[in-house]
Amino acid sequence: MKSSSSNPSWQRRGFLKTAVAGAGLVLARPETVFGSSANSALQLGLIGCGGRGNNDAGVFIRNTNTQCVALADLFEDRLHETKDSLDKRLVNLEKPKIDPSRLYQGPGSAEALLASDVDVVIITSPPYFHPHHLELAVSAGKHVYMEKPVAADTAGALKVVEIGKKAEGKQSIAVGFQIRYSKEFQEVVKRVHEGAIGDIVSGMVYYHTGRLGSRFRQGASDQENRLRNWVFDQVLSGDIIVEQNIHVIDVANWYLQGHPEKAFGTGGRKARVDVGDCWDHFIVTYWYPNDVKIDFSSSQFLKGWGDCRERIFGTKGTADTPYTGNAQITGDNEWKSESTDNLGGTESSKVTHFVESIHSGKYLNETAQGAESTMTSILGRIAAYEGREVTWDEMLKDYSEPVDAGLKW
Ligand SMILES: NC(=O)c1ccc[n+]([C@@H]2O[C@H](COP(=O)([O-])OP(=O)(O)OC[C@H]3O[C@@H](n4cnc5c(N)ncnc54)[C@H](O)[C@@H]3O)[C@@H](O)[C@H]2O)c1
Repeated sequence: MKSSSSNPSWQRRGFLKTAVAGAGLVLARPETVFGSSANSALQLGLIGCGGRGNNDAGVFIRNTNTQCVALADLFEDRLHETKDSLDKRLVNLEKPKIDPSRLYQGPGSAEALLASDVDVVIITSPPYFHPHHLELAVSAGKHVYMEKPVAADTAGALKVVEIGKKAEGKQSIAVGFQIRYSKEFQEVVKRVHEGAIGDIVSGMVYYHTGRLGSRFRQGASDQENRLRNWVFDQVLSGDIIVEQNIHVIDVANWYLQGHPEKAFGTGGRKARVDVGDCWDHFIVTYWYPNDVKIDFSSSQFLKGWGDCRERIFGTKGTADTPYTGNAQITGDNEWKSESTDNLGGTESSKVTHFVESIHSGKYLNETAQGAESTMTSILGRIAAYEGREVTWDEMLKDYSEPVDAGLKW
């Protein structure tokens, strides 16, 4: 295993410098940059070997002609667990195991992985690191499948938009909103855009769920525990509205074909006060153009109930897209999905589409849309933290300084 020692320049404030240095790294093989035959297996690297990284890498190797060849993480245990788990799946698929020399550990592990021969990287580190890891990967000429949100703060989201522009037409960048690949959701949204529910007046979108497990380690430093438990940390995660609830906010933007002009919000920490500083519930009203109001709420502490869905109310009917249950339009122009498993198959569809875009040379670029939904969530967070109405323009003007997590390496 290669240990990538402390490299101060990786930190957010220095990341431009690092990215310039990264321009000299080994580039993706030319045939994958300019489109390639569907027969050549793409070499895949994973940055961030946690739950989602294991899941996403598994979806890639199962559904596409890819080989997972390199892993990067801060922590040795996560690297080894992930290697063991992926190796089993690779062997079952008659693909080569990951070579032990291709495990990269530490704060500089992403750079080290990107300097090696991979065509595609999956970025499943915590949101705080996404803009930095994306910048490094794009500078190194890699295609990128990055998980949502694109960043934890406005500065990071704006940075991702700029990185996306540089990659346009040269590299594929997907952002992990797999729900947009649901056939049932696509049908309902298409019908709404065609007028099936008339003029949209208002809507409710919500994400209510139970608490997440703690990864606290006795004897570990405060910083290590903070990093291992990043989901409870406002700066590293963006808080639950940005990190988790963003899925339903992204669908609201999809229905409304854009972002809100302003938001008012509230929420707090009441049920889950034993870990971190993230809030455990949010309630936000978003105003979209044409005086459309969307009521958003979320919680991450529930026992006994949970649900995620979007309901959009129009002058001719209602659109309803739950995670599970029939997706449907009721009212004047009824339609109902046959399946109730609306999210089934969405990850494989998305990943397959991404890989096809690399082979065809018709590169996918989801950075602008990913940043828009990230900033919509950030707008709701600012409004809720401050308990007042905040406009989109105010967010861009007054909240665009990078937020520094103060990590020391
Ligand atoms: N699309 C979805 O439905 C979905 C579902 C779950 C998670 N996610 C997203 O995936 C991302 C990862 O979430 P997760 O649940 O896998 O978290 P996780 O904590 O299980 O995994 C994150 C991993 O990144 C590692 N890491 C942290 N900082 C790093 C750094 N600087 N360099 C390299 N590795 C680093 C951690 O050690 C950990 O192993 C988040 O952005 C999350 O929002 C998306």
